[in-house]
Amino acid sequence: MSATPLERARAGFEQAFGQAPQCLSRAPARVNLIGEHTDYNEGFAMPIAIDRETVVAAMPRADDLIEVLACDLDGARAAFRVGDAAQVENSPQWLRYVQGMVAVLREQGLAVGGATLAIAGNVPQGAGLSSSASLEMAVGQALSALNGWRIPPTDMALAGQRAENVYAGCRCGVLDQLASSLGQRGHALLMDCRSLQVQPIPLPPQVAVIVVDSKVQRGLVDSEYNLRRQQCEAAARGLGVKSLRQVDEALWNRLGATLDPVVQRRARHIISDSRRCEQSAEALRRGDLREMGRLMRESHASMRDDFEITVPAVDALADLLNATIGEAGGARMTGGGFGGCVIALAPQAMVDEIRSALASGYRSPAGMAAEVHLCAASDGAGVVTR
Ligand code: GLA
Repeated sequence: MSATPLERARAGFEQAFGQAPQCLSRAPARVNLIGEHTDYNEGFAMPIAIDRETVVAAMPRADDLIEVLACDLDGARAAFRVGDAAQVENSPQWLRYVQGMVAVLREQGLAVGGATLAIAGNVPQGAGLSSSASLEMAVGQALSALNGWRIPPTDMALAGQRAENVYAGCRCGVLDQLASSLGQRGHALLMDCRSLQVQPIPLPPQVAVIVVDSKVQRGLVDSEYNLRRQQCEAAARGLGVKSLRQVDEALWNRLGATLDPVVQRRARHIISDSRRCEQSAEALRRGDLREMGRLMRESHASMRDDFEITVPAVDALADLLNATIGEAGGARMTGGGFGGCVIALAPQAMVDEIRSALASGYRSPAGMAAEVHLCAASDGAGVVTR
């Protein structure tokens, strides 16, 4: 067995800095079950936090430096002054998340002290499982512990989103950070991205959460993501509302057809996928995996035909999973799109059959097999006490 992120962060810290860390924090990655691109439209989404995480080993310093060791990047090291955190222009991407958290917390008037940090994780990179949000939340928790703050988990998520928007250059919504911050073991999170209220929904027992990495390189993610945001904003303007969340059936029937056809399809995805989240929560509460699966298939079709964020290999992967699972559950692409992972929910008893269907029936355009991550719904970010 390879070492856990916790063991690697602690050992990396001790080796690099010659002493034991004072505290360890952790934050999970996430997978979204349903409700894609709805977050920045103030709609619903329904993610879970998963048992893949980023861990930060931390120690306060007497000076005003933040010194960081990235255990997973060949022991890369970097340091910056607390007061210079906002200057990210010449920083590698991974460091921008750390600097961004420090900068945002300082903007909020918190006195960030110097710190030594070692970071390790086991979140698959580039698969769309939000390794960046888990890094932001783990850093936020470490700084909270060192500086004695008590930041409500929702505020921490918003700080992470701002760090990402302003300092890491991605205009993401709040889905990933909220899921990482507020995860609950054994539960999906019905997330209202307008009120930021999160309702934990118990996952039915015996359900397997199967995350399948298509191994399709995610291309054009940023430009296409930003374009979708603009199209959603155009739709809201055209319908005379602040966000697509405010569109009810009457308004849609009256004005939907007046929108540019592409913008209209984008809006139709958002409005219908947000609605499917509420229906999915009901289905899960009843333990109705069949209905949940149906909604997941609808959601995939909506992402493929209306929002146009899938790619052919991911469509083929979702189709293969849905054909294998039948009506016992369902599968859909998850995350921002243009590659990445498909999420499947199915009875645990089907996992072997699903694995062999993937082994014989799927290859990425570059000839790679899919990678299966069996995941468990996990608790949100915090300080490690054990
Ligand atoms: C990315 C973003 C999220 C969300 C999803 C799509 O993960 O970071 O805010 O918009 O895409 O649902």
